[in-house]
Amino acid sequence: FDPKTPQYLTSDKSSFASVSAHERWPVIITGAIDDLHRTVGSVNDEEKRQEGKSIIEKLATLKYELQHDRQLTPLTDDGHPDIAQYNQELQQRGNPTWHNVPWLYSECYLYRRIETFFSLSQHWKGYDVFARQKMSTFKSSRPAVLELASRYRELAHEAEAGKGQDGRSPAEVEQAEKLLFSEMCEICLWGNATDLSLLTSLTYEDIQKLQGSQARQTSQKNILVNDLDAAFAVLQKARSEKKDGERRVDIVLDNSGFELFVDLILAGYLLSAGLATTIVLHPKRLPWFVSDVTPKDFSDLLNTLVDPQAFYTAPDDSGKTHPALSDKEVSDVQFLFEQWSQFHQDGQLIVRPHQFWTTPGSYWRMPHLAPELFDDLKESELVLFKGDLNYRKLTNDAAWDPTTPFTTAIGPMGPKSGIRVMAFRTCKADTVVGLPAGEDEKLRQMPGGGGSEGRKWAWSGKWAVVSFSDGQA
Ligand code: F6P
Ligand code: MG
Repeated sequence: FDPKTPQYLTSDKSSFASVSAHERWPVIITGAIDDLHRTVGSVNDEEKRQEGKSIIEKLATLKYELQHDRQLTPLTDDGHPDIAQYNQELQQRGNPTWHNVPWLYSECYLYRRIETFFSLSQHWKGYDVFARQKMSTFKSSRPAVLELASRYRELAHEAEAGKGQDGRSPAEVEQAEKLLFSEMCEICLWGNATDLSLLTSLTYEDIQKLQGSQARQTSQKNILVNDLDAAFAVLQKARSEKKDGERRVDIVLDNSGFELFVDLILAGYLLSAGLATTIVLHPKRLPWFVSDVTPKDFSDLLNTLVDPQAFYTAPDDSGKTHPALSDKEVSDVQFLFEQWSQFHQDGQLIVRPHQFWTTPGSYWRMPHLAPELFDDLKESELVLFKGDLNYRKLTNDAAWDPTTPFTTAIGPMGPKSGIRVMAFRTCKADTVVGLPAGEDEKLRQMPGGGGSEGRKWAWSGKWAVVSFSDGQA
């Protein structure tokens, strides 16, 4: 069911696949070992401690195999049906080694294999080796979170005050609404610039710089493809045609922490503006690509926002304390919390995990592997895919010519699928489609763009694409 265009391989020296396998993954596994080591250190139950140590050994073995270019070994069955898919594909691919294997498959395998260490244990089921890191990075997003909470509340008040009584023409109202929609979407898009699997190369200061409103304005010119107007038109049309009916928007989530926070900002905005009546959020079933959202991350985020003062001022691991939040800052964050909790309670904000999202293949396989999910997404007015990995999965992480239309590169998710797809992606991998002719060449010529050596401009999250497919004929 996959396209014929070849995928990126970890043996492609000129691609980010190779950098990932050689440099990033060992660092990520080391981080996982450190985390578990710390937790094991504070466990009293001897049996649990011993088991924790044996998981550390398994992680170390995995790192050894990766660094010594050993074969990927079949996954141990932990009772979930996806294991068979992983193992079957491993065999079909001829039991490859770590440094010569399709990037997409092997990176998914890496996280799925780590999960088996915990799911097959007695005492460590459900343990998330990345949870600590996710939370502490969210904490370091404090300036951006406070800035956005304040901005969001202002807008909500403006919208309330302005409803129907400010003498603007319908065209002006529409224009203003469109601008606001773009602002919300851009906030949501750039929230993806900083995922934790890239943290191996970014400092917290870099992250804070990337998250502020200033950064967003300067980044607007970095959106290489921008189909936001088409998405707005879809939602607006649905609102006028189904005024009182259900109008659902789906968000296939990417990272937790700050990115999830901005996803919820967008969700809250769409619901309040009447551009959707229900938002369905799709998290991952297991810890995934370091920072992806699991259902627990969703509830953890809400829990931290109940009492932002306690969360943001608690001393961190190194004992460093933080200044108190002002009363206004606290109430801005609580405003968001109350709105989101209300939407959640009213069933307008729904979290719906599905095992398909953590299978190793691309979304070209969705109609065959997860037909019920595929059908369910047809019920949505718009399905928003967040982030780089979702984009790689939509396009099968294949080495497309960059001028290939997005609708072609997403295959069965494209024309005639009945699914309206919108991808919000900051580029952190080689695959990119839908670019005007000559654009890739131009970007490669920029400093650090990669030239004839590769598409390095597309690795850092500095550039973005917002692509739409209407799923019709
Ligand atoms: O490019 C680095 C990388 O870890 C890719 O392997 C992966 O596709 C991506 O980042 C994860 O980013 P995101 O969280 O945006 O999907
Ligand atoms: Mg991610």
